[in-house]
Amino acid sequence: MSYDDAISALSNNALKFVKDDYVIGLGSGRAATVLVKSLAKLIKLKNYNIKGIPTSLQIKLVAEKVGIPLVETDQVDHIDVVFDGADQINSQKFVIKGGGGALLRENILFSLAKKVVVMADKTKFVKNFTRSVPVEVHPLARNSVTKSIKKLGGEIQLRSLDRGYPFFTENGNIILDCDFGTIKNPKALTQKIKQITGVLESGIFLRKPDVIYRAKTGGKFDIL
Ligand code: A5P
Repeated sequence: MSYDDAISALSNNALKFVKDDYVIGLGSGRAATVLVKSLAKLIKLKNYNIKGIPTSLQIKLVAEKVGIPLVETDQVDHIDVVFDGADQINSQKFVIKGGGGALLRENILFSLAKKVVVMADKTKFVKNFTRSVPVEVHPLARNSVTKSIKKLGGEIQLRSLDRGYPFFTENGNIILDCDFGTIKNPKALTQKIKQITGVLESGIFLRKPDVIYRAKTGGKFDIL
């Protein structure tokens, strides 16, 4: 089932959080791509002076193509709003991110933003997290982090591309996809993961979104 119509409708609705002169964090993935395309239309229509900050090369390429002026995080003193997708959202409104490998930059922007808006289809909403947690790790700490995460109860898979080549993030790190089964206390788990030396980021973000859009069937959506 496709949620494309709903993602498109909710992206247009989410633009109500955009004002002139805003600095806007651009998340990565399918939902963020739709939002960025809608944002470009709004900027042109209203002649807004907006600066976008991309969380990945993927979204940077989209933003460049539609003509959104871009800056980097270290060139601004604040971020007004971040728009991003998510891989899973639990009933406490924590999110798992990093399916596309952009978790470190995404979490930096989440932590700096005045407002975080997350957009996802309804298949990603769960009571407790059940999917694996992406963990960005320095390549030299692969074995030591693997041991530490196993002690936390995780089963680990090194993220790979076709033919077994390891996936590297844009920061030159590897991703360990860590399966903890059902996660009842995501905050405690992510705090433990982030304490391990060699871990750069955990896909369970401590900053919860301020607004969550849920895409439903038939082009409909609701806001949590
Ligand atoms: C990128 O690393 C991820 O956090 C994405 O934002 C997440 O996978 C959601 O992507 P989609 O909107 O494509 O499902």
